[in-house]
Amino acid sequence: MTHDHLERPAGTAEDWTIPQDWQRYTADEHAMWDTLFERQAAMLPGRVAPEFIAGLDILRMSKPGIPDFAELSERLMAATGWQVVAVPGLVPDEVFFDHLANRRFVAGRFIRTPEQLDYLQEPDIFHDVFGHVPLLANPVFADYMQAYGQGGQRAAGMGAIDKLARLYWYTVEFGLIRSDAGLRLYGAGIVSSYGESRFALDDPSPNRLGFDLKRLMRTKYRIDDYQQNYFVIDSFEQLLEQTLNTDFGPLYEALQTASDIEIETILPTDKVYTRGTQAYARAKESAA
Ligand code: PHE
Ligand code: FE
Repeated sequence: MTHDHLERPAGTAEDWTIPQDWQRYTADEHAMWDTLFERQAAMLPGRVAPEFIAGLDILRMSKPGIPDFAELSERLMAATGWQVVAVPGLVPDEVFFDHLANRRFVAGRFIRTPEQLDYLQEPDIFHDVFGHVPLLANPVFADYMQAYGQGGQRAAGMGAIDKLARLYWYTVEFGLIRSDAGLRLYGAGIVSSYGESRFALDDPSPNRLGFDLKRLMRTKYRIDDYQQNYFVIDSFEQLLEQTLNTDFGPLYEALQTASDIEIETILPTDKVYTRGTQAYARAKESAA
């Protein structure tokens, strides 16, 4: 996501953006996008929130090849007033928040190599664009992302970025949402991952718990493997309204003295969708 104490690379604008240079992508790079896209497009119907599929459609993302940000931004602008801009990699928190607060989503422009088909550490254009951009065509989610950017600017002044980052992680990156037909995916880290888009929904290992803002902001997370815990929202409206109508100031203050909650802990107050076996994480631990 974001990082602190980074130096702005030569050739980037003051807001850290760079041209996408769309015409420089090779045929192999476009083919890599198509491979990733087709795999996810075949798997996601019936698993992902319908708003995500609607976004793919509104933005005509099934067009072959790596999307041109200019064209994508034009469609996105018409739908919700958002744009997609290219950056060289991680950007400092304040830069990230400023872009979001102004309805600009920052995306990497490079694409993974064939060796990295299933795993890479730094988010590439497939994660950033396929994972994040479709939901930005949804008016409610679009407002949530902007509010998050504004919330980030405020959290920065209160030394609470690490707490707020957990909200991003457990919603924007790894969120699940309820539907009448069962749980659905919406987090970008899940929907851009072939493995995790099965695991997050079907595997008996992880916990799946009801969204609870304060509890969530006390909960640790892992960045190195599939999540051991997912939080489930009722709707995007609920997510937007709750976060918008809560003053995070007192919350951050209360969190300063509250202890962190371990990833796999289930509290008596949790709404439990799935009590996970944690078999996957345990097997990984003992293999290590
Ligand atoms: N209401 C939050 C605050 O008081 C801002 C926020 C809104 C943060 C939406 C995240 C998402 O800081
Ligand atoms: Fe992401």
